[in-house]
Amino acid sequence: MNNYSNRPKIVVTGGAGFIGSHTVVELWNVGYEPIIIDNFSNSQPWILDRIKQLTTNDIQCYDLDCANQVAMEDLFSQLGQVIGIIHFAAYKSVSESVAHPEKYYANNMGSLQTIINIKEKFNIPDLVFSSSATVYGVADHLPVTEDCDLKPASSPYGETKQLGEQLIKDQLETGAIILRYFNPIGAHPSGLLGELPSGVPQNLVPFITQTAIGDRDHLQVFGTDYETKDGTCVRDYIHVVDLAKAHVAALSRLLSTRRTDVYNIGTGKGNSVREVIETFEKVSGEQLPVKYVDRRPGDIESIYADCGKAALALHWNATYTLEDALMHAWQWEQSLKIEKSNAA
Ligand SMILES: NC(=O)c1ccc[n+]([C@@H]2O[C@H](COP(=O)([O-])OP(=O)(O)OC[C@H]3O[C@@H](n4cnc5c(N)ncnc54)[C@H](O)[C@@H]3O)[C@@H](O)[C@H]2O)c1
Repeated sequence: MNNYSNRPKIVVTGGAGFIGSHTVVELWNVGYEPIIIDNFSNSQPWILDRIKQLTTNDIQCYDLDCANQVAMEDLFSQLGQVIGIIHFAAYKSVSESVAHPEKYYANNMGSLQTIINIKEKFNIPDLVFSSSATVYGVADHLPVTEDCDLKPASSPYGETKQLGEQLIKDQLETGAIILRYFNPIGAHPSGLLGELPSGVPQNLVPFITQTAIGDRDHLQVFGTDYETKDGTCVRDYIHVVDLAKAHVAALSRLLSTRRTDVYNIGTGKGNSVREVIETFEKVSGEQLPVKYVDRRPGDIESIYADCGKAALALHWNATYTLEDALMHAWQWEQSLKIEKSNAA
């Protein structure tokens, strides 16, 4: 698959975003031709230059809303044979989804239904869909397995992931893989790609790196009285490059069996908020100003994945450590600071 024109084409919606951009690079590295569709509602066009540096190629990118069925049909009728779609494009802020549920249902459900219609109309064999561990709510048991009951969603964002899974199961008996991500963190080891949170980050790691670089006064830790090893919440932090590789593995799986299925993608380990902070301080040499405050409504105590099913069927395992992920996230934050001061 070395000749560019002979590379099998994979459309990556949301391919300029955090997880999408890393996945585009991994797809290129193993011989696919990734084609990005992104409307840059939560990403920056300059990410494409970074992708070019990593792939030494211009990756095709279409600035398009994937919920726009007419525009999407027009594009796919010009793309030639596409063998798979990885559908990342969605809004992802839990708090914004509570404030503006209509925006989340329209974008997240509208874009997924359009993608399913396109898959059927253009006979595209494979689809990989981004779901989330949020579908488990307070899990029946830990580590959580894929057959655990799904719980009523605690936000419209979470609801769009549950409904999205159902939309796929109802309409695609074959040819779709749903990946339930745990907590994606980290950045590309090159320092060229990473997360670009807009506004105040909702996730722990960008908050840590923004505090360490001086953009935030202090880091708030919500709750120290949970029934966990040190009283703080426990999550399963997965390096974004490992997560990107899980999508490549899912495509390979679909090539060998058309079965629609669902997989957890995490490390299988739970780390507490305190452990993440201490590990960051160790790898970066920075001391974080931390304030311990009351629990935040809606946070669940502890969740981490059983990834045995993905290991067995996708032949995929996480390889990066928490130390690696935090070091890469810190390098990315520092490179962003240089980028911002050059632009100023
Ligand atoms: N990052 C996480 O913590 C996490 C966890 C679980 C699941 N997910 C899911 O993974 C997917 C990717 O997440 P991410 O962190 O890379 O998010 P991101 O916001 O960085 O990337 C999403 C990309 O999709 C684009 N987009 C959104 N709506 C679009 C539309 N209608 N048409 C075209 N482009 C559109 C955005 O501009 C952005 O580039 C999302 O579906 C998200 O819900 C993310």
